[in-house]
Amino acid sequence: MATAAADAAAAVPDARRWSKAGPSSPVTTAIFLFFFVVVVGVLVSARWITTTTHLAITNLDQWRTQPAILTATLTTSIPAIPAGPPPPRPTYSLSCSAPPLTRDPDIPSNISQTLSLALSSNATCASVPDPQPIPPAADADADANATCPTYFRFIHEDLHPWRAAGGITRAMLDRARATANFRLVVLRGRAYIERIAPAFQTRDLFTIWGILQLLRRYPGRVPDLDLMFDCVDWPVVHADEYQGDNATAMPPLFRYCGDNETLDVVFPDWSFWGWAEINIKPWDALQKDLNEGNKRVRWIDREPYAYWKGNPDVAAIRQELVKCNVSSKQEWNARIFKQDWIKESKAGYKKSNLASQCTHRYKIYIEGSAWSVSEKYILACDSMTLVIKPKYYDFFSRVLMPTQHYWPVRDDNKCGSIKYAVDWGNSHKKKGTANRKEGKQVHSTRT
Ligand SMILES: *[C@@H]1O[C@H](CO)[C@@H](O)[C@H](O)[C@H]1NC(C)=O
Ligand SMILES: *[C@@H]1O[C@H](CO)[C@@H](O)[C@H](O)[C@H]1NC(C)=O
Ligand SMILES: *[C@@H]1O[C@H](CO)[C@@H](O)[C@H](O)[C@H]1NC(C)=O
Ligand SMILES: *[C@@H]1O[C@H](CO)[C@@H](O)[C@H](O)[C@H]1NC(C)=O
Ligand SMILES: *[C@@H]1O[C@H](CO)[C@@H](O)[C@H](O)[C@H]1NC(C)=O
Ligand SMILES: *[C@@H]1O[C@H](CO)[C@@H](O)[C@H](O)[C@H]1NC(C)=O
Repeated sequence: MATAAADAAAAVPDARRWSKAGPSSPVTTAIFLFFFVVVVGVLVSARWITTTTHLAITNLDQWRTQPAILTATLTTSIPAIPAGPPPPRPTYSLSCSAPPLTRDPDIPSNISQTLSLALSSNATCASVPDPQPIPPAADADADANATCPTYFRFIHEDLHPWRAAGGITRAMLDRARATANFRLVVLRGRAYIERIAPAFQTRDLFTIWGILQLLRRYPGRVPDLDLMFDCVDWPVVHADEYQGDNATAMPPLFRYCGDNETLDVVFPDWSFWGWAEINIKPWDALQKDLNEGNKRVRWIDREPYAYWKGNPDVAAIRQELVKCNVSSKQEWNARIFKQDWIKESKAGYKKSNLASQCTHRYKIYIEGSAWSVSEKYILACDSMTLVIKPKYYDFFSRVLMPTQHYWPVRDDNKCGSIKYAVDWGNSHKKKGTANRKEGKQVHSTRT
């Protein structure tokens, strides 16, 4: 694959692709890719999951024997969020052959539903017909605003600095390479990956898997592109370093989150297509589970407290949250639980099942070392979401409105703010309903 990428790189027509004018300017290209992946990627996975017949049999052995377009060799490592130096690196290859998996014998072979979901499709490496010409970008742009979910407009905002700088140059892209995990080139509907540095766990694999589904779903409609992707949590392109003349060096770097002082371009995180190491299914399958889970207990019958479960060790703010837990001395209306992924993996993830976590009237979202992938799962419960003032945003979170989609919780007085929200919600039960439903709809928007 790396060789193929090198060939592709050589074949990418240079100056023309990076010039300011023309329908396939890099900015347009990025908009295209973002649009398709965000809006359609989830749909694709839905279709592909429903056509998979053995969902109930969650056995890795099952897909080992089947042809698949992605094959993986995982070393099993369980920690949730990288804190400190990365653990031993997983290695895998994207190819048509199916190398045998090396597995940790302590972990039952039926443990990963995610991988079997992701890899059990009928897909083979059959050659894809050469794509049709790309429709004029102007047309696509024109209806983009009309048909896209509200968060789509932020891609214009994220890419604006490069428009203002007159476009993207090869030098800018090379600079983005410094921290990138992989480079993606799409050339005539085919994806070429150059793996620059290993990513944590299988983040890069699942991100690429999302892009491949996109290409398969829209043959001929994804324009040629060349982008750098960084799978690490924290944004790194500091706006203040690219003022004035330095703007010519501004790296266009894709990642999963950003903040108000950085220019990283946000893209949906890998967990939308699955998080194998902790058994989180692709978003569409999981959303069905969550809907089922929601039906089990009506909101009014749920525990009248604010619930959070996660790993408090990844951030100081999470450790502060733990202090709001109920005890014999205090009642802040919070129920805080620690997630122990290693223990959970051995127990078959029975206690970390997200669908069985919609049991409280209020659910707390708090960032970890950066944004947290848990936000979508928390919002998807029919509970009122209490969001502790976030610093980072992902691709959809900037459209969330306080009181409309969630209840904002102060960062400097978490316990008191949680207690107030829960008391308020318990005594205004009807008003809470609107907030819950709207928060849920934001990122489940289709079309
Ligand atoms: C899988 O392949 C079989 C035989 O080629 C075919 O009948 C079936 O429809 C395919 N299923 C999917 C989900 O593509
Ligand atoms: C779509 O919306 C964005 C942001 O509001 C705007 O900058 C852009 O020009 C719009 N595109 C079209 C084709 O109207
Ligand atoms: C441009 O970048 C250089 C080197 O990183 C830095 O020393 C300088 O302060 C920057 N200039 C501006 C205007 O930001
Ligand atoms: C970014 O937000 C932080 C608070 O989260 C604030 O202190 C800082 O001034 C903001 N920076 C800019 C450039 O707006
Ligand atoms: C919070 O309190 C509950 C109830 O006492 C307890 O089960 C739980 O372990 C506590 N959580 C933490 C993180 O200590
Ligand atoms: C895995 O298989 C064992 C034995 O067949 C079964 O007892 C267990 O519940 C299964 N675990 C999961 C997570 O499906």
